[in-house]
Amino acid sequence: MKLSLSCKNILLCCAFLVLFFLITNASSDSISINEFLQDSETLVSNNKTFKLVFFCPENSANRYVGIMFNMKSQSVIWVANRDQPLQDSSGRVTISEDGNLVILNGQGKSVWSSNISPAVRNSTAQLLDTGNLVLKDNSSERVLWESFSDLSDSYLQNMKLGTDKSTNTTNLLKSWRSPVDPSDGSFSAGIQTETIPQIFIWKNGLPHWRSGPWDKQVFIGVPNMTSFYFSGFELVNDNMGTTYFYYSYYQGDDILYLVLNSTGFLQQKYLYARKNEWEVTWATPSNECDFYRKCGPFGSCDSESSPICSCLQGFKPKNQEEWVKGNWTNGCIRKTVLEKERNNSNIEQGKQDWFLKLQSMKVPDYPIWVPSAKEDCESDCFRNFSCIAYSYYRGIGCMHWEGSLIDSQKFSKGGADLFIRLAYTEQEKKKSNKVAIRIIVPIICTIVIAILGYISSKLLAKHRGRKRKRELLSKKSFPSYYKLSLARDDINRVKFEDLPIYSFDMLANATDNFHLSSKLGQGGFGSVYKGKLPEGQEIAVKRLSQSSGQGQEEFMNEVVVISKLQHRNLVRLLGCCIERGEKMLVYEYMPKRSLDAYLFGVHIEEEYFLDWSKRVIIIEGIGRGLLYLHRDSRLRIIHRDLKASNILLDEYLNPKISDFGMARIIAGNQDQANTIRVVGTYGYMAPEYAMTGRFSEKSDVYSFGVLLLEIISGRRNTSFYQEDGALSLLAWAWKLWNENKIVELVDSKIIELQLKKEIHRCVHVGLLCVQEYAEDRPNVSTVLSMLTREIDDLPSPKQPAFTTRPTPSKKGSSRIQVSVNDVSITIMEAR
Ligand SMILES: *[C@@H]1O[C@H](CO)[C@@H](O)[C@H](O)[C@H]1NC(C)=O
Ligand SMILES: *[C@@H]1O[C@H](CO)[C@@H](O)[C@H](O)[C@H]1NC(C)=O
Ligand SMILES: *[C@@H]1O[C@H](CO)[C@@H](O)[C@H](O)[C@H]1NC(C)=O
Ligand SMILES: *[C@@H]1O[C@H](CO)[C@@H](O)[C@H](O)[C@H]1NC(C)=O
Ligand SMILES: *[C@@H]1O[C@H](CO)[C@@H](O)[C@H](O)[C@H]1NC(C)=O
Ligand SMILES: *[C@@H]1O[C@H](CO)[C@@H](O)[C@H](O)[C@H]1NC(C)=O
Ligand SMILES: *[C@@H]1O[C@H](CO)[C@@H](O)[C@H](O)[C@H]1NC(C)=O
Ligand SMILES: *[C@@H]1O[C@H](CO)[C@@H](O)[C@H](O)[C@H]1NC(C)=O
Ligand SMILES: *[C@@H]1O[C@H](CO)[C@@H](O)[C@H](O)[C@H]1NC(C)=O
Repeated sequence: MKLSLSCKNILLCCAFLVLFFLITNASSDSISINEFLQDSETLVSNNKTFKLVFFCPENSANRYVGIMFNMKSQSVIWVANRDQPLQDSSGRVTISEDGNLVILNGQGKSVWSSNISPAVRNSTAQLLDTGNLVLKDNSSERVLWESFSDLSDSYLQNMKLGTDKSTNTTNLLKSWRSPVDPSDGSFSAGIQTETIPQIFIWKNGLPHWRSGPWDKQVFIGVPNMTSFYFSGFELVNDNMGTTYFYYSYYQGDDILYLVLNSTGFLQQKYLYARKNEWEVTWATPSNECDFYRKCGPFGSCDSESSPICSCLQGFKPKNQEEWVKGNWTNGCIRKTVLEKERNNSNIEQGKQDWFLKLQSMKVPDYPIWVPSAKEDCESDCFRNFSCIAYSYYRGIGCMHWEGSLIDSQKFSKGGADLFIRLAYTEQEKKKSNKVAIRIIVPIICTIVIAILGYISSKLLAKHRGRKRKRELLSKKSFPSYYKLSLARDDINRVKFEDLPIYSFDMLANATDNFHLSSKLGQGGFGSVYKGKLPEGQEIAVKRLSQSSGQGQEEFMNEVVVISKLQHRNLVRLLGCCIERGEKMLVYEYMPKRSLDAYLFGVHIEEEYFLDWSKRVIIIEGIGRGLLYLHRDSRLRIIHRDLKASNILLDEYLNPKISDFGMARIIAGNQDQANTIRVVGTYGYMAPEYAMTGRFSEKSDVYSFGVLLLEIISGRRNTSFYQEDGALSLLAWAWKLWNENKIVELVDSKIIELQLKKEIHRCVHVGLLCVQEYAEDRPNVSTVLSMLTREIDDLPSPKQPAFTTRPTPSKKGSSRIQVSVNDVSITIMEAR
């Protein structure tokens, strides 16, 4: 190729100009046509969480373009040119003439392209704060391509794992071939939705691990999934071919994501804000039993027994020799044929099959969902001779199995009850066992109880002595030193006299150094940990995040407000800690945690179910707490952030209002106040407050009304954006109210529908609380009288205020701050 001299000069000039442009634009998050990203440059997302860079995996000379977390340690989450590495550092990223995002090597040859067609004249690639690299058409803003639709090995929040009809793609995680080679390895992970949705890891296309069925909150084959860290999964299914899992985690300082590593493990990686090393907090397969089909058909795997494989009761190894040698692939076969086969051969006619209950099981693969009620699940299975097992699970319903039972596992806790069909004769053996148990167990129990009683009486005596000593010690341990450190922190304007001060070390010890395992949750301004003081008292410690300056004011506010209050429906503040730049609040520990977990949360066990009478107690308790705040306490307090996650439950499920970080004290003769800074949680904020910053008792009443309807319906006010055409709970309730179909609003788990009238009344009160105009809403004392039927005749509700969501793609509720002057919205919390 020949170029004339002048042309060369012009080109050179252009190159410099472009270079200059890029250098001055170093912090840019996008590339447009005629712009280049050179090997030495990075594209950083707007809030600096992610970057697009050229990188070399350790011990490799190949160069790739990928997205990683914007931090020192290499943590690649997406790679573009997986199969086509660059050999040197002369590569460039740019937008080609046809609008594609391309990677060019030193020779100007494209090694990777986003491959969109037809061509677009003018497009821009932008790295978003979510870690998504999107290619947009400049004129229409249409997304032409995005990295989230071509996943690598990492699964971040907001990524969709599944099939998306709008893009006609099935999105899978693909492992790297090896830690130095990002090309597609043997493993992939994704969802399978043919029956009940499950997550699979496949090895060369064959099942390698299986999550067990999705019960709409957790995967029931992952026993630890009920823990806090897994609450973020959500399945979206439009029944039109789009089904995907969506993983959304709170947006704090911490980072959490999943990665399918090159050896086929799905790891959960966690980064606590101020540390710079990743912690693997969970990985699967976690033991031998997790490998798919470990024990063959009709085998059951128990990682805590040896050998791990055994045949299900009523079954024997198919090939005894191989089985004993530890080759379990052939599995087991039935010892006695079932009724159906017996009829054919006419032996032992009329002896009916029965079902053996197996507890804490990972249910087998290929469950068939049948629309049977709980009571009919067994009989429907019994009648159908091809049904060989069933299980009923809350959140899923009735499952049947036919053919064979593959990939069953016995857990030590959690899991489901599985009932397997056995022949009549197998029952005899069970009965004889039972007799033995009936005699032996009581004898053993008596002996054990006697021994335990003796030991514990001894221990108790000893412990009492020790506790007394400790009490003396701990009284002494709040010397004036802490007052000094307060002064240094320059927040001595608050009077802490009434409030005990805890030392940092004491709280660090109590919470196991704020270890991940003691973390209870994450609020807008910091994390909450469970702790245990040396005396044995359990506490909850709220540690304000150091990086956010936001918490400071709320911290002081909470100390001032709550230290003055005492009511059985308000959570008690035990003390605080201000030391080493840390600010912590110490509360009484609420063993049952927060109400939202019960209403919309992750708990699946029977004991977490709130029947109607418990819900009534909770509603009234919250009302009483609120009444105390508004009327009975020495101060008049507007809480301003009443919501399900701020209602904590004690061991008897009594509700206590918590989180006074936003509360405001108003003068006794004042009815309302104004604020420039509107803080609160979307979906719970009264319209006049959200729009003009005017808050009053009535804005709390509005939030209470929303909460009331959530408690009745078991659904979040903000949970409606997908299936229901952007209706909110309020809009839905209003619609049902006018159609006289309130029963449909009630949580399907509530079966006490004979209480229809009472439930109806509660909905009625709820609707009165959420009326659009503050003056129409009753005050809390009236609300309580209405609920307790002291007032019998209720006015008809007027149309509630329907608030539309700020970002329809966000899940759950967000605490937002709206500055009234410039209407900017910052989302502080999304859970
Ligand atoms: C890209 O679009 C802008 C307007 O959006 C237009 O001014 C510009 O000429 C276009 N550039 C090319 C190369 O088509
Ligand atoms: C950047 O934005 C992402 C997505 O909105 C959010 O999760 C993250 O917390 C933000 N990071 C910072 C430092 O603001
Ligand atoms: C395309 O739009 C982006 C912002 O949306 C802008 O920065 C860029 O200059 C535009 N490109 C062209 C060629 O108009
Ligand atoms: C989606 O993909 C299937 C199979 O790959 C193809 O038959 C179908 O035409 C595609 N649909 C659209 C809308 O692209
Ligand atoms: C579940 O959690 C317990 C304790 O937290 C741990 O010992 C166990 O290994 C975990 N099991 C799995 C499968 O991760
Ligand atoms: C993959 O994850 C597992 C489980 O955490 C770990 O033991 C293994 O070393 C990892 N493999 C690689 C190549 O990092
Ligand atoms: C286990 O048994 C199967 C079938 O009998 C056989 O194909 C396989 O080679 C055996 N595996 C081992 C490790 O012996
Ligand atoms: C098996 O025998 C029982 C008792 O005679 C009868 O009720 C049942 O219908 C038979 N089942 C089949 C499949 O023939
Ligand atoms: C039960 O019977 C029906 C047809 O009679 C069949 O379609 C179904 O698959 C059977 N099995 C189970 C487990 O329900």
